[in-house]
Amino acid sequence: MEYHNPVLLNECIEGLNIKPTGIYVDVTFGGGGHSKLILKNLKGGKLFAFDQDENANKNAFPEDDFKLINANFRHLKNFLRMEGVCKIDGLLADLGVSSHQFDVAERGFSIRFDGELDMRMNTNSSLSAKEVVNEYAQQDLANVLYKYGELRNSRAIARAIVESSKQEAIITTNQLIDVVGHMVPEKNKNQFLARIFQAIRIEVNDEIKALEELLLDAVDLLNKGGRLVVLSYHSLEDRMVKNLMKKGNLEGRLEKDFYGNPMKELKEINRKIIVAPEEEIAINPRARSAKLRIAEKINE
Ligand SMILES: C[S@@+](CC[C@H](N)C(=O)[O-])C[C@H]1O[C@@H](n2cnc3c(N)ncnc32)[C@H](O)[C@@H]1O
Repeated sequence: MEYHNPVLLNECIEGLNIKPTGIYVDVTFGGGGHSKLILKNLKGGKLFAFDQDENANKNAFPEDDFKLINANFRHLKNFLRMEGVCKIDGLLADLGVSSHQFDVAERGFSIRFDGELDMRMNTNSSLSAKEVVNEYAQQDLANVLYKYGELRNSRAIARAIVESSKQEAIITTNQLIDVVGHMVPEKNKNQFLARIFQAIRIEVNDEIKALEELLLDAVDLLNKGGRLVVLSYHSLEDRMVKNLMKKGNLEGRLEKDFYGNPMKELKEINRKIIVAPEEEIAINPRARSAKLRIAEKINE
């Protein structure tokens, strides 16, 4: 089984505008599809990669100009400092989970397989989907479903989950599907369930906060002329990336300096978002929701 089929591979690598002697970071290594092509473009440079899932370690490359760090990318700056790196020339983030994580039933990420409700990318972290589903207060669970799943009936879903878990703990993906699957017409069921699973996964892995920390670190770390390349699959993530690239902050406020110039350290390279062509989506359905944004650091 293939670990992961990289999305918008050539577009991401072109976006990085690789200098052969530069220092690059792929913060979401996964199966290493993007990293492999970055490495091919280096001569005298170095690629650091991050992945918080230990399973990605087996995909690491032996080359001396490559180092995989098994850690959350929210600690990017500290780990790079330990490697003696204070500045970089480009950073790629291909957010979310890999196909491998989805395809292993026991990881509990997918509505397609029965497995324990886990959903931790880092299997050593303490919060799993079981706790979110069985221990969160109804209002907190509703907030998670609303914010991260964009589910309008989040309150009713949370109520159904909490009432059912009081009778019997919800331990597996199929149990969760049995509790909520009847709440929408059959034709919308898969999309509805996928949103519920996505919301719980984002909460379990604290994905939004981790991305905020990553983006702010990335801007600091980039050299002038360095590139930030981000592939996102969820509107909340994309909004943060867009705000940062267009307005210079995660909230999207337009701030001007004394002279009335916008205060931003990045310049967008693609004004229009890049999406996968139909031919790519046909062979890699995961590419359907991908949104690629590229920016260059213009001010130190
Ligand atoms: C979409 S996959 C990346 C696939 C990769 N570009 C490839 O070509 O194979 C995302 C990967 O990033 C990792 N990941 C997601 N969030 C992370 C975080 N906060 N810190 C470190 N790794 C993370 C996941 O474990 C997963 O392996």
